[in-house]
Amino acid sequence: MIASLLQERRSIRKYQQKPLPDDIVAMLQEVALRSPSSRGINPWEFVFITDKAQLAKLAVCKPHGASFLKDAALGIVVCADTRKSDVWIEDCAIAAALLHLAAHSTGLGSCWIQIRQRQYDDAITSEAYIRQTLLLPDYMAVEAILSVGYPDEIKSGHPVSTLEYGKIHLNSYRSA
Ligand SMILES: Cc1cc2nc3c(=O)[nH]c(=O)nc-3n(C[C@H](O)[C@H](O)[C@H](O)COP(=O)(O)O)c2cc1C
Repeated sequence: MIASLLQERRSIRKYQQKPLPDDIVAMLQEVALRSPSSRGINPWEFVFITDKAQLAKLAVCKPHGASFLKDAALGIVVCADTRKSDVWIEDCAIAAALLHLAAHSTGLGSCWIQIRQRQYDDAITSEAYIRQTLLLPDYMAVEAILSVGYPDEIKSGHPVSTLEYGKIHLNSYRSA
């Protein structure tokens, strides 16, 4: 089941202008909160955004790779209380990946928008811009935003022939 989801999965950046049903949003919220985290600390928090004006503001959080967020039905800002865990980045990444797969499992498309280490402009980080837009406190770091919506593009899963099997190693990295 998971394997076939992964075989089909792609990043989707074009969305139909159609809102998500409440039960789907509730399912995504549950998935987020069920994500595993180091020592079960759960440092992550998720800002679910359906307001079009807020989505448009977040779509300009960096010059490239975020503009499609304005057309998404939902943006999920994945952030964390950095005071709670030294591995909040890993915890957030797992939650975002699970959300991406859960969205795909219900016929939705989604795409990771990288925020950590990205810039709004020369002077302001994407994180600082988002912190101001969403009224996040200073101790909350922003890992990524997941854009979600009904797909308006069709993409096939990557063919098995394109997979880089040379990156798989058995028993040691190379022979002695
Ligand atoms: C850590 C990470 C950061 C990414 N950042 C962005 C991004 O900022 N904007 C974007 O459009 N796609 C982003 N992506 C999506 C990748 O571009 C995409 O996964 C990759 O090109 C492979 O395409 P596929 O997901 O369709 O297989 C990101 C993916 C990951 C895992």
